[in-house]
Amino acid sequence: MTPVLDFRISARYGAREVLREVGAQIAANEIVALVGLSGSGKSTLSLSLLRLLHYRGGEVTGSIVLEGSELISKTDREMRAVLGKRVGYVPQNPASALNDRLRVETLLEETWRAHSSVPPDNDAFARLLTSVQLPHETAFLRQRAGQLSTGQGQRLLIALAIMHKPALLIADEPISALDAITQASVLRLFQELNQRDGTAILFISHDLLSIASISHRVEILHEGRIVESGPPGEIFHAPKHEFTQRLVAAMPRLP
Ligand SMILES: Nc1ncnc2c1ncn2[C@@H]1O[C@H](COP(=O)(O)OP(=O)(O)OP(=O)(O)O)[C@@H](O)[C@H]1O
Ligand SMILES: [Mg+2]
Repeated sequence: MTPVLDFRISARYGAREVLREVGAQIAANEIVALVGLSGSGKSTLSLSLLRLLHYRGGEVTGSIVLEGSELISKTDREMRAVLGKRVGYVPQNPASALNDRLRVETLLEETWRAHSSVPPDNDAFARLLTSVQLPHETAFLRQRAGQLSTGQGQRLLIALAIMHKPALLIADEPISALDAITQASVLRLFQELNQRDGTAILFISHDLLSIASISHRVEILHEGRIVESGPPGEIFHAPKHEFTQRLVAAMPRLP
């Protein structure tokens, strides 16, 4: 079966190469975790795959095939038909990703209208907000993004990213600002999307326990390359690469 995403890319900021021939495939029904130290290039990789890296001053070369279609040569305009529709993105930083002054209802409506010509469906919004454990009463819908807590902002970003049922969801540390119970519910939501709708998920996280619990495969990013890749059972119990061994040794354990 054709993978949902098949890529091999290099990425640089000016003379500084951050990703060197980094490649992977993600199939429908697959959750792939991307792990690496802070600064190793995880966000660079997500922005590259979304063809957004030039907005951050970077440059990407290589190949990014999404659902059989090559993205690397698409214009910004062509990418707008893909972003939010076939690929959903949960950015790392909710505070800078949401326009502070916009109300929750406006954000929902704008995201809806970006890819749908029929009027917004309030029942669908209610189901969507409930699925990320946000209230759907008027008081909440009328709040401005700037008034949300970081965790609420992150859950709203997840709701916006999955609204149009993308084939691929790229989630850059989507649970880092959430408490343990909300984290668990968001992980369950990702699993549900993955199992029920077949959504392929690239899950970027520092939290090795969450990764172990939901991913089918783990990719270890180190010094600009994927140094090891495998099912979480293998990666966490028998890490081969020296960097992975250090990472696993640093995993918290209950006394
Ligand atoms: N606009 C930029 N210009 C120059 N260098 C950049 C730029 N953005 C990121 N970098 C550098 O690229 C490297 C990778 O950054 P990136 O944000 O992708 O890391 P990350 O793995 O997502 O880290 P974290 O876990 O902290 O989010 C870092 O060394 C960073 O300093
Ligand atoms: Mg990052």
